[in-house]
Amino acid sequence: MTTLRHKPVIDETEHLEMMNAEKLLELIRQKGSMEYAGEGVSQLQHAWQCGVLAEHAGVSRSLQLASWLHDIGHMLTDLPGTPTLLGIDDRHEMLGARVLHPIWGDAVSEPVRLHVQAKRYMVTTLPGYLAKLSQDSVRSLALQGGMMNSQECDAFNANPFADDAVRLRAWDDAAKQHGVPGLYDEAVLSALRALIVSVPASHENA
Ligand SMILES: [Fe+2]
Ligand SMILES: [Fe+2]
Repeated sequence: MTTLRHKPVIDETEHLEMMNAEKLLELIRQKGSMEYAGEGVSQLQHAWQCGVLAEHAGVSRSLQLASWLHDIGHMLTDLPGTPTLLGIDDRHEMLGARVLHPIWGDAVSEPVRLHVQAKRYMVTTLPGYLAKLSQDSVRSLALQGGMMNSQECDAFNANPFADDAVRLRAWDDAAKQHGVPGLYDEAVLSALRALIVSVPASHENA
């Protein structure tokens, strides 16, 4: 299958620089009801399930926020339905990291940027992991490069956020539960807002 690169709807040089936490929340409010491609849950429910799993694991608030926002890049594209069925890789992890880095820095943006590479790494190094992936994750895996070679594994491991990305990936894979009693959308957005205000913006760390 030929991999198509999708051009994001937003202007990559202008709009990304203008993003802040409030605009991200508004984007999620507008696009959170989008289907999480081929998984039977909405983007907002997927984000919430992933964030709750991170919270229950007791990790840092930065990694909890990365878990909530790991697929924000999907909401920055205008791709309906299931893009992988069309052979499209939307490169959402790169787009998401570009939006998140100016606001919160590496602790949030790097696990997001690496969450696709983490899947490739885990498929390569963890026996049985591939069999647990959803159909859409298997389709996207092929578009994203498939298994890693040893050099790619070494490069992934050398990133200081590799462990965070692997943990996020495991929650991501588990955060596709149908029919899970959840919060209504406004309550989910309120929970996300509360987390966002608790994570210092990168300029506050300077
Ligand atoms: Fe993703
Ligand atoms: Fe995801």
